[in-house]
Amino acid sequence: MTSDQSIWNSLPVPAFIIDQDDRIADVNSSGEGFLNASRKSVIGHPVWDQIAVDAPLEEAFDRARAQGTPLFVNDVDAGSGNRAPLQCALQIAPLVGHPGSMIMIISPRELAGRMTRGNTVKSAAQSAIGMAEMLAHEIKNPLAGITGAAQLLSMNIAPQDLELTDLIVAESRRIVKLLEQVEQFGNLQQPDFKPVNIHDVLDRARRSALLGFGADMAIVEDYDPSLPLAFGDPDQLLQVVLNLLKNASEAAGPQGGTIRLRTYFEHSFRLRRSDGSGHSLPLQIEIIDDGPGLPEKIRSDIFDPFVSGKENGTGLGLALVSKIISDHDGWISVDSVPGRTVFKLSLRRAPAENKKSKEESI
Ligand SMILES: Nc1ncnc2c1ncn2[C@@H]1O[C@H](COP(=O)(O)OP(=O)(O)OP(=O)(O)O)[C@@H](O)[C@H]1O
Ligand SMILES: [Mg+2]
Repeated sequence: MTSDQSIWNSLPVPAFIIDQDDRIADVNSSGEGFLNASRKSVIGHPVWDQIAVDAPLEEAFDRARAQGTPLFVNDVDAGSGNRAPLQCALQIAPLVGHPGSMIMIISPRELAGRMTRGNTVKSAAQSAIGMAEMLAHEIKNPLAGITGAAQLLSMNIAPQDLELTDLIVAESRRIVKLLEQVEQFGNLQQPDFKPVNIHDVLDRARRSALLGFGADMAIVEDYDPSLPLAFGDPDQLLQVVLNLLKNASEAAGPQGGTIRLRTYFEHSFRLRRSDGSGHSLPLQIEIIDDGPGLPEKIRSDIFDPFVSGKENGTGLGLALVSKIISDHDGWISVDSVPGRTVFKLSLRRAPAENKKSKEESI
């Protein structure tokens, strides 16, 4: 029943097949997320060009291949050109039935330090979303059939049973809505970077929140007026802030509460890159609410897709936020106790040529 391909792509850990010339012969969906590259673009490429491992591995690897024995390497930093390294365990074994070929599984270790969290989240999100997108596509057609059949049935049944067909139709619609959200996630483009006034983004989000889902909330501004321009995609950043405001409003419930939007400059905040260089993320934006705080049970997983503490939540809001911030080379963190939840975004500053007028006024 279950095809090799579906097993391969369902593996929740990055896995690679390496041929006898040390080239990538195959990679699963999770591996694509790990490399931040598509299967097509890496197949045939030398594996050690694509995966940087901070350990003298090649000799042990060749020995394992020659002797047909497995090789386990714990606690190495593994990454790719496209992403920061993660502390990982590598499991390598000869591929049965394919002499010279090896299978390598990379298990990222339990979040090694705060700075790697964003990347882990991104790859987890990518693989789960990739699979969900595929499913979304496959589910929509039969679902339309089910809905249609229920509507036909409803024409010929006793009135007291109508409730049941209505339920089928209503629940099917709910699934379609969820699937559409998943598809929207998959359609997210790379950011269109330009200098952005973060305060404009916050204002737009604030106004639209107060008109809709945040009508019961007080949203106060606590801005650093000298904050320089950020470098990002204003529409995507608006989506981020709206999602955070929506979550804070939903957490407060109908009795409302207060959200504080705070911005400040922190010169020393840097993100380390895989090649050892770093870049500065000096613009800080905090969205602080006085609601009940993150539910204990899901607090370490809130950035993963489909993790929700709400009955009707899709759990895609924060996964989207985390994807956008990571595409911006930015950083997101959260600190939550009952009565005070802070989502903090750290962003890059716009490059010098784009902020001349700003510099003149300094
Ligand atoms: N400010 C907050 N205060 C308390 N809990 C929060 C806050 N923000 C997020 N959460 C918790 O994190 C969960 C995940 O949030 P996320 O936005 O990813 O999904 P969702 O809000 O449940 O669904 P969706 O955003 O798709 O409607 C929420 O269900 C909620 O339990
Ligand atoms: Mg949400």
